[in-house]
Amino acid sequence: SAEVGTVPREEVLTSDPYNNVTENIFSKIGANLHLRPDHPLCILKEAIYTYFDDVQPGLWRKFDDLKPVVTTKANFDEVLVPADHVSRSPNDTYYIDTDTVLRCHTSAHQTELLRQGEAAFLVTGDVYRRDSIDQSHYPVFHQMEALRVYKPEAWEDAGVEGTQHMVTKLKTALEGMAKHLFGDVECRWVDAYFPFTDPSFELEIYFNGEWLEVLGCGVVEQQILDKNGWSGHKAWAFGLGLERLAMIKFAINDIRLFWSSDKRFTQQFKSGDLNTQFKPYSKFPPCFKDVSFWLPSDGFTENNLCEVVRDQAGDLVESVTLVDAFTHPKTGKTSNCFRIAYRSMDRSLTDEEINGLQDGVRTSLSDKLLVELR
Ligand code: PHE
Repeated sequence: SAEVGTVPREEVLTSDPYNNVTENIFSKIGANLHLRPDHPLCILKEAIYTYFDDVQPGLWRKFDDLKPVVTTKANFDEVLVPADHVSRSPNDTYYIDTDTVLRCHTSAHQTELLRQGEAAFLVTGDVYRRDSIDQSHYPVFHQMEALRVYKPEAWEDAGVEGTQHMVTKLKTALEGMAKHLFGDVECRWVDAYFPFTDPSFELEIYFNGEWLEVLGCGVVEQQILDKNGWSGHKAWAFGLGLERLAMIKFAINDIRLFWSSDKRFTQQFKSGDLNTQFKPYSKFPPCFKDVSFWLPSDGFTENNLCEVVRDQAGDLVESVTLVDAFTHPKTGKTSNCFRIAYRSMDRSLTDEEINGLQDGVRTSLSDKLLVELR
């Protein structure tokens, strides 16, 4: 049904003092863009499924309707995210209470699926991260995760060391996927760090004259397998951002478009068609508004500012940029000036409307973030 993945309001917008989920974020849960057949994110998801199914028919199990509300145990602890890792901060992650979050990556499902006995799976879903605002960042986006387990015979028969065998397997699989999606592109591997894999890599492709990061991956930390029913086995995993890849593949220039119901966007994409090049249908001029304020003694962050701006202006905000900062030599107080770009994807905005939004932003900045407006 269309209701797949919807979560009741009272389960998300609780009065818990640790809760930092906003109305704006709540309104995105259950949209499930990756389940709409003609949506570019779903088209990409299906293309990746096709690639893996062609290489290993019948092997891969797909999960694309797992609930985005997860425990901190699943999202962080069980995938070995250190206690002091930035991603655990409520500045970066949406907490429902101290033990429950909106998942910040699809890796949150690795351990439950392993415990259920799954050995080769693809997980697609909406993930949530507090962040700054520009044309490629949105607090809700979609990831696809893959994990494949091998038994000891796999590397013993090949006569190679286990971890090295995983590295070879994952590089072959992922270069194949990149070529399936982007044609005969050049690939390169860059060393990376993720708490749940070792070694870890990022895959980059050379596309339209640039090296672009496509995904993060690595050999699954042995502890994760040992503790979740697969001791003595080895595995590789990857995670990729579907918006990022879809923006590259379909030439979509603004991440907000994925959420648009404007037919001029939605009708350009067709299930199974990977070759669409998006034609921008409107480029209304942006309207810039600056806001300057003295920071409170603590607690101010750019992510908090962006949350306030999104809650007021929703998808009418295109970017928020720090344009000036200085500390007063006598008072020691710090002043910031941020420039907010307002622009609708679909229509032109009136001065009145923009002024109304900016007034709302100013009011909630002083009410909620306790800044001193200048
Ligand atoms: N979870 C990682 C991220 O969100 C991606 C990843 C998944 C990396 C699996 C390695 C293995 O950035």
